[in-house]
Amino acid sequence: MQSMPEETIEIFPGEVFADVTEFDSSIRQLLPYYDEMLGAIARCLPTDASRILELGCGTGELSLKVMECCPSAQLVGIDYSPRMITFVRSKIESAGYAHRWRGVEMDFGEWANNQGSEAGTGFDAVVSSLAIHHLSDEMKLKLFGQIRQTLNPGGIFWNADPVLPESPQLSEFYQKAREEWCNSHGTTLEDVRSKMGRSETHGYSHHDQLATLDAHLQMLKTAGFESVAVPWKYYGLAVFGGWVDMKSG
Ligand SMILES: C[S@@+](CC[C@H](N)C(=O)[O-])C[C@H]1O[C@@H](n2cnc3c(N)ncnc32)[C@H](O)[C@@H]1O
Repeated sequence: MQSMPEETIEIFPGEVFADVTEFDSSIRQLLPYYDEMLGAIARCLPTDASRILELGCGTGELSLKVMECCPSAQLVGIDYSPRMITFVRSKIESAGYAHRWRGVEMDFGEWANNQGSEAGTGFDAVVSSLAIHHLSDEMKLKLFGQIRQTLNPGGIFWNADPVLPESPQLSEFYQKAREEWCNSHGTTLEDVRSKMGRSETHGYSHHDQLATLDAHLQMLKTAGFESVAVPWKYYGLAVFGGWVDMKSG
């Protein structure tokens, strides 16, 4: 999510930390209100959703929250990282949700290009956190279009991601908020970043490709979402998305 020391271990964009077992604790030091942000996605889903797709499921922290909030939902989680898929599978099994979860090792950029049907179609909701910002804006738009196509009438899409500050001054303020968060959790941004891996482009994902919140909302509208909204925001982090009208095809 930021530049990192050269000598660190090579990882895929989005895996963030060199050691996958450190992800759950370190991400909570790195990102202010990580649990609240993911919780906002889960809370803004219809509790009776029966088919949900998650893009970039990582270690499954959002998956678990979504399955708790939507007790009858079957969840398909896509991630291109074999390490993440192995890790999340054992977590889901330990939580007793294996019968409601299916992991698919795939690049969601391929899915956006209609090249991966393994994930299925006809979802009541699509969710994602901290993953889509690795795509170029051109691919974000394609992905939003594919999400729109895959949603059932009345379906909903929520994404939590860092957004591009609208000015250099705001960028400083947002950075300060991150630093203060780390300090209030007994560490520093530098220390947390020292646990990160080094990532090159992999598949469709690159280093951070941030867009402003406004640009994201425009892309969602261009992709065909009738309604868009921002249910949660904290400085440079936001939960945003849209939904499909009940009458839409
Ligand atoms: C920062 S992690 C977030 C995981 C989880 N959603 C969370 O909020 O804790 C981002 C995940 O997205 C995955 N990812 C990034 N780009 C991807 C792509 N193009 N296709 C599939 N997975 C991708 C990474 O492997 C990683 O597991």
